Amino acid sequence: MKSRKLLSMLLCCLLLLASITGCAGGTSGAAAPSAGAAAAPEVKTYNVGVSIYKYDDNFMTLYRNEIAAYFKTLETDTVKYNVNIQDGKGDMAEQTNQVDTFLAQGVDVLIINLVQSSSEATITEKAKAANVPVVYINREPMEENAMDYDKACYVGADARQSGTYQGEIIANLPTKGDVDGDGTVRYVMIMGDPENVDAQYRTEYSIKALTDSGIAVEELFKQRGDWDQAKGQELAASALSQFGNSIDVIFCNNDGMALGAAQAISSAGRTVGKDIYLVGVDALDECVEMVKAGTMTGTVLNDHIGQSHTAVDAAVKYLNGGTNDKRIMVDYQKVTA
Ligand code: GAL
Repeated sequence: MKSRKLLSMLLCCLLLLASITGCAGGTSGAAAPSAGAAAAPEVKTYNVGVSIYKYDDNFMTLYRNEIAAYFKTLETDTVKYNVNIQDGKGDMAEQTNQVDTFLAQGVDVLIINLVQSSSEATITEKAKAANVPVVYINREPMEENAMDYDKACYVGADARQSGTYQGEIIANLPTKGDVDGDGTVRYVMIMGDPENVDAQYRTEYSIKALTDSGIAVEELFKQRGDWDQAKGQELAASALSQFGNSIDVIFCNNDGMALGAAQAISSAGRTVGKDIYLVGVDALDECVEMVKAGTMTGTVLNDHIGQSHTAVDAAVKYLNGGTNDKRIMVDYQKVTA
């Protein structure tokens, strides 16, 4: 009797044990792995916080989409990236809140397209205090001692090069930009946001390329269009109505504004390539088509693919415990017919 009782107690214990191990050994509903089966590989998920200065920007839209797409291509069975991209809405206070939230959520790395490059020190300080690496993109921090943190770097392009290329595209025309042949290239300059070094350098270096090749210039009009197509159109229309046929060239700091200027040029009855020239920067698909068709004189490729991949690679390097150079530059390229 005693031994039968013992046996049934033993059986009960065994059953209980089996049910416990069965539950703990797999995801709910799944059968327990059979003896000898390899355990599922451990998956490491990195959280990436990205903030873009504003979504409503042609070039940065291509750029941010490529950041997300490229992170996907780097995923493996064991490494995943949870990429959270936020719209800075052109508001530095909003972007600072986004960074605070990312850090409170414990992100592993930040990729930041600053609303104001002058706020870089504030953001770097926050990242440094949280020991989270930060990759700045597109808007180069230019302050002295910028990015004072061993895990902070900038990925972008040297805006001086893009300005120089714009000027060279005009200087290399058979007319050297002097479409009416009166001996002086009279130009209109439509600028991006002047807080942004891209706007400052493109404005300066495009004209420097003309004067460096001995071309006489006169600035008729210079105003900020903040990278925006509608503003580009408005400003070009206003310049065309003020200065009419004396304008030889309309320089735009980017293609978005050049698209607007192109509309204003045709509304004013002028023809690019015949009685006026128009150059931009970015090489948006639409503008490359216009360059081919002759409705835009030229543009400069702002390589969003190269820049976004380089930025993501730099972020991944930090995640893997590596270091990056402070400034990593991707080349611009001239685009002409
Ligand atoms: C420039 C680009 C512009 C605009 C700007 C935003 O590099 O050419 O189109 O996107 O960045 O900072």
